[in-house]
Amino acid sequence: MKQRLQKGCVSVGKANLDWSNIDFSYRQTPQRYVANYKDGAWGEGQLTGDSTVVLNECAGILQYCQEVFEGLKAYTTKNGDIVAFRPDLNAERMVDSAKRLEMPPFPKEKFLEAVDAVVSANADWVPPYGTGASLYLRPYMFATGIVIGVKPATEYQFRLFSTPVGPYFKGGAKPITICVSDFDRAAPQGTGHIKAGLNYAMSLHAYVAAHANGFDENMFLDPATRTYVEETGGANFIFITKDNEVVTPKSDSILPSITRRSLVYLAEHYLGLKVTERRVALSEVADFAECGLCGTAAVISPVGKIVDHGREICLPSGMEKMGPITQKLYDTLTGIQLGTMEGPEGWIRKIK
Ligand code: PLP
Ligand code: COI
Repeated sequence: MKQRLQKGCVSVGKANLDWSNIDFSYRQTPQRYVANYKDGAWGEGQLTGDSTVVLNECAGILQYCQEVFEGLKAYTTKNGDIVAFRPDLNAERMVDSAKRLEMPPFPKEKFLEAVDAVVSANADWVPPYGTGASLYLRPYMFATGIVIGVKPATEYQFRLFSTPVGPYFKGGAKPITICVSDFDRAAPQGTGHIKAGLNYAMSLHAYVAAHANGFDENMFLDPATRTYVEETGGANFIFITKDNEVVTPKSDSILPSITRRSLVYLAEHYLGLKVTERRVALSEVADFAECGLCGTAAVISPVGKIVDHGREICLPSGMEKMGPITQKLYDTLTGIQLGTMEGPEGWIRKIK
């Protein structure tokens, strides 16, 4: 099938990419998966070479932002297999996200079929083992049906595309500097715990402001009291105490990160560390030894400095490299993803 290229997108082939140096950006791959919801049921999904979406001007996504998405990665392991990391949890979270926005959940089995189909069809775009790059998968669904009064649409589309990516933050594993945001990311009882595009739209102003002031990311605080740490625009926090305990913020308005949930398990069961999930006050952050951002895109990105309106909190782990416990967590997680370490039962889905 001839690949249709959009303006501004690059057509790539395995041989043409400098895999070890690619950044986190969109590179069009040949095939993506599409399924439609109509008359109360999801239709058969299929692969397509067409990367464009054509919508009615009054589609629910365009008028009232009915959209949810996911993010996961496929890797080439040391022995040459192509695998995905815990895609079942992405499927389940997307069901939760869809229900919160009154959208028809996309069935878990079909989600996993779509992952397998897209990764297999774009196998040449899965970065080779040892390059630090991976194939990022973006499942998403949105209202295609027409709405003008405020209500859920009756027609939807699910799509899943892939793009090879490198590190989310420039500099890879170099510690970053973040700032405490003046904006809230999520409302109490709102949608912070689901992966809806609307949460990201409203974080863009804070993102641009942080970057304009020379920061890599925002630390968002709890919207009710603005005294507890929540998360960043695209990752959860993990902190390490001076006694090597892992502490991670507990809140109903943050995204239940699959990476964070995996790290909590690995810290306890593989590394024998104490883990506490609790509210974390901004006022205690200066007492921690290490801080990291965890997520599919971020993996674990170390934080070296947090700036709270001019007050600098410098983590003892410094600005040169990850702290030692963060590094152990990183090595364990990526070891499992890349097949150099045995993961817990069911964490790795072999695709090819
Ligand atoms: N928090 C937010 C706001 C995110 O967008 C993401 C990315 O998906 C995460 C946390 C990390 O979640 P996960 O580890 O499931 O990718
Ligand atoms: C992910 O980690 O998959 C996300 O969706 C975060 C996004 C900021 C790229």
